[in-house]
Amino acid sequence: MAALEDRHLADLQFREVTRALRALSSTYVERRGGLRDGAALSGNGKRAAFALFYGPLHFLLLRAIAAELPGASSVAGALVDLGCGTGAAGAGWASRCERPPALHGVDRHPWAVGEANRSYRDLGLAGRAVIGDIGRDPLPKGRAYLAAFALNELTDEARRGLVARLLDRAACGNQVLIVEPLAKGVSPWWERDLIPFLDAGGRADEWRFTVPLPPLVAKLDRAAGLRHQVISGRSIWIAGASTRAADPAASS
Ligand SMILES: C[S@@+](CC[C@H](N)C(=O)[O-])C[C@H]1O[C@@H](n2cnc3c(N)ncnc32)[C@H](O)[C@@H]1O
Repeated sequence: MAALEDRHLADLQFREVTRALRALSSTYVERRGGLRDGAALSGNGKRAAFALFYGPLHFLLLRAIAAELPGASSVAGALVDLGCGTGAAGAGWASRCERPPALHGVDRHPWAVGEANRSYRDLGLAGRAVIGDIGRDPLPKGRAYLAAFALNELTDEARRGLVARLLDRAACGNQVLIVEPLAKGVSPWWERDLIPFLDAGGRADEWRFTVPLPPLVAKLDRAAGLRHQVISGRSIWIAGASTRAADPAASS
């Protein structure tokens, strides 16, 4: 949090970040049309709001989810974070592991990739983020795959393609974790698209955690009127190869 504050509050006032946070929240909830054009991360204010507010919330949420899901605290290979943003969600999961895995972040946005690489360094986690299109590119090699708050930014066609690639990875014994907001309007396709994961032995959960927020996150939450006293999300989890053979070609 200290590194984030130094970086993002150097040239912006708190009230500017608060205003940008309101605009960013409205992009995620009401004006979702702009998401595919990168509206969420356009401009320094929204980037700061994303890094200072949503990043830490996603870090805390993934840490909490990883502690609850059987098998999630053990990742024997690289953790691929698809649509990694500032790297927070993958770092949250990795930091909860008995032996934190190396991270491999992928995002289409160059700013996000730079932030993710700084997050990994600041948090003392091994790994690297790179630019890529998760809706089109083949999946990088890894042992575990995370898509946190990213599927809902893809077109229907791109999302179905990624879901199919993740199912292939799961069938080879890799761990797969997909996280989306609880709000059904954001991911109306959730139940329909993700039934195959349940058929393949996955589990679906809804999460609500009460965790202390870092002071700056709590202050932004109050100032922007967002009320995140409870952090929440829905997930699909496939624990990987306890009964199936892991694909050696996919491990690194
Ligand atoms: C809401 S953010 C979530 C970031 C991160 N996973 C987290 O939980 O904090 C969604 C991210 O997905 C990225 N994204 C959207 N479409 C993408 C695509 N086709 N390929 C790669 N990244 C994409 C965006 O740039 C953004 O960083």
